[in-house]
Amino acid sequence: MTRKSVLVARAVFPDIVARLREHFDVDDNPADVIYTKAQLIERLRGKQGAFTTGSERIDAEVLDANPQLEAVCNMAVGYNNLDIEACSARGVLATNTPEVLTETTADFSFALMMAAARRIAESEHFLRRGEWTRWSYDMFTGSDVHGATLGILGMGRIGQAIARRGALGFGMKVIYHNRSRLAPEQEAPLGARWVDKPTLLREADHLVLVLPYSAESHHAIGAAELALMKSSATLTNIARGGIVDDAALAAALAEHRIAAAGLDVFEGEPSVHPALLALSNVVLTPHIASATVATRHAMASLAADNLIAALTGGVAPTPINAARLRPR
Ligand code: GLV
Repeated sequence: MTRKSVLVARAVFPDIVARLREHFDVDDNPADVIYTKAQLIERLRGKQGAFTTGSERIDAEVLDANPQLEAVCNMAVGYNNLDIEACSARGVLATNTPEVLTETTADFSFALMMAAARRIAESEHFLRRGEWTRWSYDMFTGSDVHGATLGILGMGRIGQAIARRGALGFGMKVIYHNRSRLAPEQEAPLGARWVDKPTLLREADHLVLVLPYSAESHHAIGAAELALMKSSATLTNIARGGIVDDAALAAALAEHRIAAAGLDVFEGEPSVHPALLALSNVVLTPHIASATVATRHAMASLAADNLIAALTGGVAPTPINAARLRPR
């Protein structure tokens, strides 16, 4: 049987590339060039598989230019960079990397939430600028996380891991909004209560966004939603850019209509809205919520497992569209 060929579209762990080479001819990208769409189309020529990350957009045009493509394995849990309908219609299996990043990402949401609530980045910058000359009673006073109301928008695996930390670790009251409600036996150990979205916005002391990006969730938090929040509240986004209207958020933060924000994802990233960059009451990180060595390796490994299974007659462990796949 002739060996299949795969594209590894971004630089990844060398041992993962080596593992793929045991099965396939591999075109990898150690220089970590971000391919334009034309380059991506060209690189995919003759390849049956693609190992992608959030930076590669796989749409109908890319797929139509490469009808030999059988599987696209994304090293991310979110897959808004993949046109799943277009993949399914062409019999291309798409996979993602759920579960392996859940706890790490939940940890990071707390890091950002706490940094925003306790003004960690802002006070660190102050110290580094040499402006710390004395103690004062109200210097960088923030808001408590323990005992506060944690609001979670989106209650999938990561949302539930955040709820667990809040309820069990910090004694927080947990409210959430999601299209589907958890079963009572899932809610009970978290002390979590489903509320409608306006109630979530009004009652949360610390609101965390963990819903997938889609046309439906575009600007789920805009000026109208921010207006419902407490002026003492914080907003943390570890989900996707575009879920928040960044310009509206910057305006709300500038006018102290909410207290602070922690953002790991941005509209149009890696560009960040200049109004956000100018504010001190927002903590900004470059899309690193899953970035521990162990978790990133587990994600890469799972993406490779998917690719190997998909192209060698196995069953991919974490398919997105297996049930909807048109026969090739
Ligand atoms: C990261 O953003 C992911 O979706 O895994």
